[in-house]
Amino acid sequence: MKGKLESLVDKNNLPAHIVIIMDGNGRWANKKNLDRISGHREGMKSVRAVVQGAKDLGVKHITLYAFSAQNWQRPKVEVNALMELLKQYLLREGDKLLENGIRLNAIGRLWELPQDVHEVLEETIEKTKDGKELTLTLALSYGGREEIIDAVKKISCEKIAPEDVNQTNFARFLYTSDLPEPDLLIRTSGEMRLSNFMLWQLAYTEIYVTKTLWPNFRKRHLIKAILNYQRRERRFGLTGDQAKKREVI
Ligand code: FPP
Repeated sequence: MKGKLESLVDKNNLPAHIVIIMDGNGRWANKKNLDRISGHREGMKSVRAVVQGAKDLGVKHITLYAFSAQNWQRPKVEVNALMELLKQYLLREGDKLLENGIRLNAIGRLWELPQDVHEVLEETIEKTKDGKELTLTLALSYGGREEIIDAVKKISCEKIAPEDVNQTNFARFLYTSDLPEPDLLIRTSGEMRLSNFMLWQLAYTEIYVTKTLWPNFRKRHLIKAILNYQRRERRFGLTGDQAKKREVI
């Protein structure tokens, strides 16, 4: 049954692509006198709830910033635990993703992941490749600057003259070439920064920051973010009147 909050969502104006910086696992654990890894484990419950919630709402693309290129510098025990949690998630959720028509996708320097994690990831991507309901993209060993550098390396190997490089053909060399631009960025735990996430793609994305720590984030918080998004006027650098006309066209 649909809740009262959900009934307020305009299903004709859903963000096509929601991206999330899942922050605050450590602080959640600290508040409860638990170790940081318990925070990440609890954060996995939010991942499950939000993925299912997004699918049920009819959102078509969701991208989660699960492990940044800079996160490798965290203490080894924490890095190992995060890799183990990721593997567990893929092993335990793979069938559920499949049943729910959810296609798994991943962006980042995936070759830097431990081999066993990389293998399970590739298997799950292959297994769920026909999912049509929702594309779940995990950003792993991901950095926005790293992505732009990787794109420059790739494009410089192509026969494209420098004067022919434009935004459209450059974007084809980003990890996100097959994803729509993000409409809504959600960052949990109140921090007002991008943390090297999707630096190119976020150019016109609406930003929503909530104080809720990631392990406490559930479907109702996702709905609140969507409702907030639906109250905004998106202008893409145009005047309000111009942007409205563009919507009508
Ligand atoms: C940021 O919190 C969170 C991360 C670096 C990792 C996110 C990982 C998960 C939610 C669990 C596993 C994910 C998947 C997709 C299975 P933080 O540690 O920086 O928190 P803090 O800023 O409060 O210390």
